[in-house]
Amino acid sequence: MSGHRRTLVAVGAALGLAAVAVWTLRPAPGAGPRLRPDDAALVERGRQVYAQHCAACHGARLEGQADWRSRGADGLLPAPPHDASGHTWHHPDAQLIAITKLGVAKAAGLSDYRSAMPAYEGVLGDEDIVAVLSFIKAQWPPAIRAKHDEVNAAAR
Ligand code: HEC
Repeated sequence: MSGHRRTLVAVGAALGLAAVAVWTLRPAPGAGPRLRPDDAALVERGRQVYAQHCAACHGARLEGQADWRSRGADGLLPAPPHDASGHTWHHPDAQLIAITKLGVAKAAGLSDYRSAMPAYEGVLGDEDIVAVLSFIKAQWPPAIRAKHDEVNAAAR
């Protein structure tokens, strides 16, 4: 092999390795924290976070506020239930985490949407947010949990 060819082969190999490195370092689509409803310690932590931060609006038994589909006199929606009768389980993990962390408007990219749902960034750490949402998912009947797993799979 000539010196020139050897250099070309070496450069080619280096570029190939770099491409593989970039490919494997890229975060997988949908990467990020996931809910862990089977992690008993996490769910217990989430139960406490829920009682302290969420139950006042979403209800001690996740039942939400009365007439939650109609806006109140203030133009805001009441808090929806987080049980099987609501639509929390229609959203994949990443969206639930974003709504809890950033509030509805920011999570949905709607700059002028007014909502009574607070943003918990700076109030709850990421693991507490995963804990409280894992607690919520742990309360769903198996069929709804399975549907939510499908929602997650479709989103990834
Ligand atoms: C001050 C009342 C209030 C508190 C406290 C509150 N929420 Fe909400 N939440 C709302 C309202 C109201 C909505 C519906 C907002 C809208 O669509 O405008 C909502 C919506 C949500 C949604 C979206 C549900 C869906 O089906 O789209 C999630 C998830 C959520 N809240 C999680 C939480 C969690 C977790 C906590 C506690 C850490 C919490 N909320 C505390 C009022 C509250």
